[in-house]
Parts: sequence; C-alpha cells; structure tokens
Amino acid sequence: MMALSGRCDGYFVFVMLMMAGLIGVCVNGENDGDSVGAPMVKTEQEALYSAIQGFVGKWWNGSDLYPDPCGWTPIQGVSCDIYDGFWYVTELSIGQIHDNSLPCAQNLKFRPQFFKLQHLKSLSVFNCIISPSRGPISIQSANWDAFSSTIESIEFRANPGLTGQIPTSFGNLKKLQSLVLIDNGLSGGLPVSIGKLTQLKRLVLSGNLLKGKIPESYGDLSELLILDLSRNSLSGSLPLTFGGLTSLLKFDLSKNLIGGEIPSEISNLKNLTLLDLSNNKISGGLTFASQEMSSLEELILSSNPISGNLVNFKWQNVYRLMVLDLSNMGLTGEIPELISSLKNLRFLGLSDNKLSGNLSPKLAELRNLTALYVNGNNLTGELKFPREFYMKMGRRFGVRNNSNLCFPVDKLSTSVRPFGVKVCRE
Ligand SMILES: *[C@@H]1O[C@H](CO)[C@@H](O)[C@H](O)[C@H]1NC(C)=O
Ligand SMILES: *[C@@H]1O[C@H](CO)[C@@H](O)[C@H](O)[C@H]1NC(C)=O
Ligand SMILES: *[C@@H]1O[C@H](CO)[C@@H](O)[C@H](O)[C@H]1NC(C)=O
Ligand SMILES: *[C@@H]1O[C@H](CO)[C@@H](O)[C@H](O)[C@H]1NC(C)=O
Ligand SMILES: *[C@@H]1O[C@H](CO)[C@@H](O)[C@H](O)[C@H]1NC(C)=O
Repeated sequence: MMALSGRCDGYFVFVMLMMAGLIGVCVNGENDGDSVGAPMVKTEQEALYSAIQGFVGKWWNGSDLYPDPCGWTPIQGVSCDIYDGFWYVTELSIGQIHDNSLPCAQNLKFRPQFFKLQHLKSLSVFNCIISPSRGPISIQSANWDAFSSTIESIEFRANPGLTGQIPTSFGNLKKLQSLVLIDNGLSGGLPVSIGKLTQLKRLVLSGNLLKGKIPESYGDLSELLILDLSRNSLSGSLPLTFGGLTSLLKFDLSKNLIGGEIPSEISNLKNLTLLDLSNNKISGGLTFASQEMSSLEELILSSNPISGNLVNFKWQNVYRLMVLDLSNMGLTGEIPELISSLKNLRFLGLSDNKLSGNLSPKLAELRNLTALYVNGNNLTGELKFPREFYMKMGRRFGVRNNSNLCFPVDKLSTSVRPFGVKVCRE
C-alpha cells in the first residue's frame, strides 16, 4: 500500500509542537528545510476540502477542523509536498485503513473540485463503497484528463458497491505506474486505451466482473512487472502480442474463461517468475516452453482442458521451478523421469489426470519436495520410495484413487503406508 508514509498522526504533531516547537517536520521528509511556514494556495486548499467532503459527507467541515491541512493540522490520509514554495496535495487515501482514517459517505461523490488538485500523484479508495443497493457508484469517465501529467497511482480496493466500467479516459494518464482495482463490482470490457500507458508497472484488476477479450494493445506494456486479471469472466485467447511484456515478473489470469492455446511467445518472457492460468478453458496441450524460461518458479495450469502429455514438454527449459501444479488437465501418458531433474521443486500436483505407468522413486531425491499429489490417475505397479520419504511427506503425499497402484508392506512397517493405497500381493 502506498499512502501514509512520510506522515504522522495529529497526536504526534501535537506532542512535537509542545516539546520542540517543530512545525511541519512530520509532514514530508523530503522538504523539511523549506516546509516551515510554507503557505498553501487558496484554490488548492478549497479543492481539498471540497473533494474530501464529497467522499466523506457534508458533516465534514475541513476549514473548521483542519485550518492548515499540509502543516500543523494534518489530515489522516492526506500527504503534501512543496512546489514553487507552496504546499500541494500529493496523496489522498479514503476509507477504513486506520482507526482514525476518513470514513466514506454512503453516497460518495467525485466532486469537480477533486480534479483541481494540481499535483495529485496517488489516490486510494479502500473498503469504502460497500453496498451496491444504496444506488450504484461508478468511476466517472470525465475529468480524469486533469491528472494526465501528474497521477502515478490509482487504487480502488474492496469496494463491492463500485460498479460500471473502467473509464477509457484512464488511458490518457501518461504518468500512471500502478492501476490497482481489486475486489470491486466493476463490469464491462477491458479498455483498449490502457495499452497506451507505457510507464505502467502494475496492472491489477482481479476480483471484478470484467468480461470480453484481453486487448492486443496490452502487449505494448513493456515496463509492466505485474499483470493480474484473475477472478473475472474474461474470454477469448491469450494475445500473441504478450511476447512484448518483456519485463513481466508475475502473470495471473486464473479463474476466468480464457480459451485457446498457450502461445509459445510466453517463453519470450525471460524474467517471468509466476505463470498462473488455472481454472480457465485453455486447450491444445503443453507446448509453450520452446525457449528457456530461466526465471520461472511457479507454473500453475490446473483445471483446464489442456490434454496432451508430460513426455514432450521441455522440462530442461523450466529448470528453476519450485511450484508445478498440473492437476485436472486431462493429461495422458507417463510421468517422465525428467521431472525429477527439477531440483528446486517444492510442490508437485498432478492429481485428477489420466496418467499411467509407474511413479519413479527418483522423485524422493528432490530434497525440497514437501508435497506430491497424484491422486485420481491410472498409475500402476509398486511404490518404491524409501521409508524416509513417506515419513517426511506424511499426508502431503497423495496417491489415492489409482486402482492399480500398490504398497509393498512386507519391506516397511504399515505405519508409513500412504492413505488409500492397497497392499501388494505376495
Ligand atoms: C465550515 O464552518 C465554517 C465556520 O463554522 C463556515 O463558515 C463554513 O461555511 C463551513 N463550511 C462548510 C463547507 O460547511
Ligand atoms: C530482467 O531482470 C534483470 C535482473 O533483475 C534486469 O537486469 C533486466 O533488466 C530485466 N529484463 C527486462 C527486460 O526487464
Ligand atoms: C532448496 O531450498 C533451499 C532453502 O530454501 C535453497 O537454498 C536451495 O537452493 C533449494 N534447492 C535445492 C536443490 O536444495
Ligand atoms: C488403466 O491402465 C490399465 C493398464 O495399465 C488399462 O488396462 C486401463 O484401461 C486403464 N484405465 C483407464 C481408465 O485409462
Ligand atoms: C476417489 O476415491 C474415493 C473413495 O475411494 C471416492 O469417493 C471418489 O469418488 C474417488 N474420486 C474419483 C475422482 O474417482
């Protein structure tokens, strides 16, 4: 969370005043030299009061309560900075973050005066717009252009009553580095215009009601580090342009309705550490790792009708994997021994497929492996792991519902026998 750094609460300011007479020290560390006695432009101050009143309600009278909002009467959730010798508001955080945060009005409004804040860099609205039934509130599209050369971060989090579309005009906010709209009630499609935000580092739109295709233009976001569109109803296939997201570290599209295949362009993303496409409608087999993906640590593709097998995948190109979840994907064929060359593996999930053949005891050589699930397959033969392996894994070794698999009880005590596996005959 951004927001309250560089500030301190009213009580602390009061104590400081009493003890040392230091004014403005807490408000912003970067400018302590000039801050003492810096004035605030009248229009900026009035814009601030009116904007906050729009968010929290008419009862709130800023000029009464906070005559010097960037100085000795700081407002919780407001940060300021000095430009040309005057105070301006740079950060505004509304909603229940701290006990003394500004609470939100039921009929929260973006007043026109809000858009007159001349140097606003960051807006955060958290846990604020709760009930959609009290008249829907949406992010109006008009006026945002006023922030086109200032705003760097917009965050609306946990506002289920925030409905309507993501404004197309966000695409004009040239300085935007972080757009985080998590767990709201936003609907409609993803604006194509977001693809123009070439400075964007974080695009997180998870937990809304967004639908339609992912615009090809998003492949132009070459500075993007985090792309999280999970928990929506997005459809269509992954754009081939995504090979252009060369800085990407985390890519989460889980819990959508994405179809098509995983394009091999994905393996252009050399810095990618997380790829989570689980719970979608992706098909076409496992073919995408045509090049080395030397940063990839977590690959989660579970619950997709991907089908195909594990034998043809280039495991040597994802040698750094720590988490591999390929459960419920309709996979056939055997589990290749090459999987046990993924030395960093901690979690291996292959449950609910149609995998056959034996489970190689070589998996026991993976020192960091603490969870191995192969429930619900068609594995056969004797389990041949050393006793220590069963001891180490306990219930995190899941092999039930493999009707032709058995456990050689004569060599080992029954105390380590994995759950749901029958004893071998003879
Ligand atoms: C705030 O209070 C002052 C003084 O009590 C009053 O003059 C002013 O009109 C009030 N402002 C608002 C917006 O209610
Ligand atoms: C990938 O990460 C490395 C190391 O953090 C960094 O130097 C490099 O610039 C990144 N590559 C891209 C394309 O962002
Ligand atoms: C296992 O985990 C440890 C500690 O997290 C780590 O240092 C090591 O590189 C990992 N890999 C192997 C092969 O031990
Ligand atoms: C499971 O494997 C056995 C032989 O190993 C085969 O006869 C059987 O048809 C397979 N069952 C399924 C459901 O694939
Ligand atoms: C797995 O086995 C349990 C109990 O033996 C059974 O209730 C369950 O339906 C099975 N699941 C599948 C996917 O076959």
